[in-house]
Amino acid sequence: MEDSMGKKNLDWSNLPFGYIKTSKSFVATWKNGEWDEGKLTSKHSFKIDECACVLQYAQTCFEGLKAYTTEHGDIVTFRPDLNAERMENSCKRLQMPVYPKEKFIEAVLKTIEANKDWVPPYGSGATLYIRPFMFGSNNVIGVKPADEYQFRILVTPVGPYFKGGAKPITVRISDLDRAAPHGTGDIKAGLNYAMSLYNIVDAHNNGFAENIYTDPATHTYLEETGGANILLVTKDGKLVTPKSGSILPSITRRSILTVAKDVLKMEVEERQINKAELKDFAECGLCGTAAVISPVGTINDHGTEIKFNDGKDEMGPVLQKIYDTLTGIQMGRLPAPEGWIYTI
Ligand code: PLP
Ligand code: COI
Repeated sequence: MEDSMGKKNLDWSNLPFGYIKTSKSFVATWKNGEWDEGKLTSKHSFKIDECACVLQYAQTCFEGLKAYTTEHGDIVTFRPDLNAERMENSCKRLQMPVYPKEKFIEAVLKTIEANKDWVPPYGSGATLYIRPFMFGSNNVIGVKPADEYQFRILVTPVGPYFKGGAKPITVRISDLDRAAPHGTGDIKAGLNYAMSLYNIVDAHNNGFAENIYTDPATHTYLEETGGANILLVTKDGKLVTPKSGSILPSITRRSILTVAKDVLKMEVEERQINKAELKDFAECGLCGTAAVISPVGTINDHGTEIKFNDGKDEMGPVLQKIYDTLTGIQMGRLPAPEGWIYTI
């Protein structure tokens, strides 16, 4: 039996951020107005019809969280209740049925449990990425929501999201928009990522790791990148993050703001940030489940380069302290605020 063979023999320290099929996924089905019980499955593919709502009208949303092996050898996950709540918002906005929060958490924990052998060991730098997602599965040709859905959870072991791991990346300020004002930027809809694909390929072709989007109405204020929120540190050590109704409310960013304020006793501020202010900040980073905290070394604003951390090829001292504290909590080296860590 594949499931009882013990820890998988992967090159844990050199994993890319990629997809590998693991032991089990979770699947629940919505039909006739209700969710079935849901179950673990070793089938990683399924059939849908050509006219399924997800294929025609992109009715799909997803979440992302991770499982970690702690210093003490436990397997834990981080704040899945917030992923459940955010997915609830995504589902409501896309006219999809909500998968209840308690059942969401239970399904996440069950799926991790069933894939214990795939959780990378402590100290490897890799983690188990967990991807809950939902889509409209029955045929729809007029523009309307589906009435059958699948809620699934897949897991896959991953390494760092940006090549080079902790090395500062170079990003550019984008001319294209990710989210419309009053659009879907604040939910985790697949469509937000579909429309970023042209731009990310173009960024990579031009030597940039990511695009920084600005507010679509005026292209003046910083929003976020295609897959992470933005962190900035002032010269006197204050943590500042962009405030906008059209960015994804990152669980990592919200956790960092709490940790910076309550644990590190830093001054923190969420506000609109004009891109003209960028040159005044000492450090810049991107944060998210996949990105963790990735340092930004250079922002290219239409040919003008803004450098951070005095142009050094490493993470700045303030972001490093926040990184050590956040990952310390996730990996069991530091005490966690009440309710943040779920042990499998
Ligand atoms: N912003 C975008 C567009 C994302 O896709 C993600 C990833 O989930 C984030 C921010 C970071 O959010 P979180 O910290 O909840 O993973
Ligand atoms: C995550 O961090 O979980 C995301 O969904 C980002 C994605 C670009 C991989």
